[in-house]
Amino acid sequence: MKIYATNDYQEMSRKAANILSAQVILKPDCVLGLATGSTPIGTYDQLVDWYKKGDVDFSEVKTVNLDEYRGLTRDNDQSYYYFMHEHLFDRVNIKEENTHVPDGTEPDAQKECDRYEALIESMGGVDIQLLGLGHNGHIGFNEPDSVFPQRTHCVNLTESTIEANKRFFASADDVPRQAYTMGIGTIMKAKKILLIVNGEGKADIVAKAFFGPVTPEVPASILQLHRDVIIVADKAALSKVPV
Ligand code: F6R
Repeated sequence: MKIYATNDYQEMSRKAANILSAQVILKPDCVLGLATGSTPIGTYDQLVDWYKKGDVDFSEVKTVNLDEYRGLTRDNDQSYYYFMHEHLFDRVNIKEENTHVPDGTEPDAQKECDRYEALIESMGGVDIQLLGLGHNGHIGFNEPDSVFPQRTHCVNLTESTIEANKRFFASADDVPRQAYTMGIGTIMKAKKILLIVNGEGKADIVAKAFFGPVTPEVPASILQLHRDVIIVADKAALSKVPV
């Protein structure tokens, strides 16, 4: 596990974008695993900037997103499909058919999760998976549990995640209660993992997840067992890491 410390959010975003664009330059038809949330917005902005300058080309890149709220349509501005188009896909030369987000409108959860898992396999797996980190240690929507879920599955969101995500909705009641997410096994199969995290509010969970025991109670702790993980974190997020 490599940890890069940055001074602030901007530097974290730039470093993460650097690593992702290096992947795209080395393998133009790579599969990028992508995340939503507030943390990667600066990374996507930086990639867009470099695309506009002619430094990165997404014309052959393929993407798979980690997760999607169950029940939200693509045109709902809180869906992760919408988020990805707004922050990245509509701003670069990626082909729509090469981008993939779980289909939140498929009512048959098993069918959609099996389809998504098979899709990732058919693409040859993920070359680099971008992750954010939830306050409770979740990655994707894999919430603290007694086991590490293996495959793409449907989850019930915890109260703490609903609370954390309500800032994007009119009220907590509007936050969907379920989501489709890649499993921990799906994430661990990625060839490389890039986790980005910033802010003092995540300092406790960073220390627990990456310097504490590996346990499904802290889903991100499993990343300690992946052979190629890069964490890019600002100083505030690393402030409680044991020296
Ligand atoms: C989003 C995702 C989540 C977020 C996490 C952190 O696709 O999978 O695990 O990465 O909730 O969210 P932010 O970045 O908003 O703090």
